[in-house]
This record gives sequence, C-alpha cells and structure tokens, in this order.
Amino acid sequence: MKTFLKLSAALAVTAFVGVSVSALAQTMKKTEPAKKAAAEPAAKKADPAVVEAYLKNTFGKAPPEWQARIVPDDTLKTCNAAHNDVASKDADKIVKAELAKVVYPADGKFLGDWKEGRKVANNGRGGQFSDPEGTVAGGNCYACHQLEKSEVSFGTLGPSLTNYGKDRKFDAAEAKNAFTKIFDSQAVLACSNMPRFGANKVLSEKQITDLVALLFDPESPVNK
Ligand code: HEC
Repeated sequence: MKTFLKLSAALAVTAFVGVSVSALAQTMKKTEPAKKAAAEPAAKKADPAVVEAYLKNTFGKAPPEWQARIVPDDTLKTCNAAHNDVASKDADKIVKAELAKVVYPADGKFLGDWKEGRKVANNGRGGQFSDPEGTVAGGNCYACHQLEKSEVSFGTLGPSLTNYGKDRKFDAAEAKNAFTKIFDSQAVLACSNMPRFGANKVLSEKQITDLVALLFDPESPVNK
C-alpha cells in the first residue's frame, strides 16, 4: 500500500512534466529495498493497463484542459513501449524531433542571472491543481540533482551537478549544451527521465538562461 501511495503521488507530479510512466516504474523498483526471495513471492511486473486506468481515474475530476497532459506524445509513446530501452534508430529519430523543438535565445546569450536561477532550481511549485492563478512554475532541480555543496536535501535520480561549469572550464559551447538539456532533455538523451522544461512550457527562456548561469557563472555557489 505504501508503495502504491508513493507511486501514485509520483505519477501525479510527473504527469505534468511528461516523464514516462515506465521510466518511473523502473525507478520505483530500483528504490525498493532488496527482498529475500524466500520470504516473499517474486515481484509482479506493473500491468500498463492498470497504470493507465489509474492515471485516467486520478485526472478524471480535473478540468478538461488538464486531461491532455496524460496523453503521451510520440516520443513518450516510443519510450514507454520499449521501457526506455529504444533501438538506436528510434533514439536517433527522437533526438532529431526533440532538437527541432529547442528555441535558442535570439540574442545568443545563454547565461542569465545565477541568483534568479538559484530560486528556480529550489522552487517546486507549479502545475498543480491547487496552485493559485498566475503561479510561476519552478524547475525543482533539487528533486533529482545535487547543485550547491552546502545543500543537504536533494534527490539522486540525476547526477550531481556540483562544479558543473568549473569542471567544463566555463566553456561557452558547454553552456549552450546545458541550455539544450534543460530546454528539452530528450533532445540529448532519447528516453531521459528528466522533464522537458522548455519544450513543455514549464519554464521560460529567461528561467532557463538563469539556470544555465547557476551552472556556469564562476560566482555561482555551484562552482564554489
Ligand atoms: C525527475 C528528475 C530530474 C529533474 C527534476 C531534473 N533532472 Fe536533470 N537529469 C536527470 C537525469 C536522470 C539526468 C541524467 C540522464 C540524462 O542525461 O538524461 C539529468 C541530467 C542533467 C544534466 C546533464 C548532466 C551531465 O551529465 O552533463 C543537466 C545539466 C541537468 N540534468 C540539469 C537539470 C536542471 C537545471 C534541472 C532543473 C530545472 C533538472 N536537471 C531537473 C533528472 C532530472
């Protein structure tokens, strides 16, 4: 029951950012403590039809404009069907299609204000039924990444991003790559577990350049 609740809460959160359900199921499995085969029967595989029905039921009471959020696009359909382990020709197709969605800043400047980026990284609000009108969504980066060394509360689904810019010698091309990654993670890794923040209009261009500054500004606490 506990696992079910945990899974349903996570599903509700990830549905809006478009993380694939199968990716999530895999992650949940990994976080389960190892069980002794003798003590308990082998874990059953999640039935996609049950997960699908549960999702529909959860969102059933939401306003119609929210319903579209649980309809996977072609990229997620491909990733879900292959449990994220897509054939390389499918991966190439996805990366190409997602790259076409990335809109780069017209002025070619990828580094915004790291202090603003820090707020975006720490903000987990947005995309929830209970949000007051006009709520600006955050990136909730700490849910999956370590960023500042002094922060003690962070998830580990994604790699640590400490010293991200410093390790890359504050290289301009690397900063552009980070913009691409944050705008559309699946333009870099076909079936990434990271949300497509720009492509799904969760974060604005300004918020993303502020995050790139958090990663690449030499003054940012990420690089101290
Ligand atoms: C739901 C979990 C999740 C969230 C939330 C998330 N990420 Fe990620 N991120 C990942 C995973 C997993 C990877 C590694 C696999 C991959 O490349 O997709 C990753 C990779 C990255 C990378 C590339 C790291 C490298 O190896 O070069 C960057 C940069 C990054 N994330 C930045 C961010 C930022 C900034 C945010 C907040 C706006 C964020 N992520 C939010 C899961 C997440």
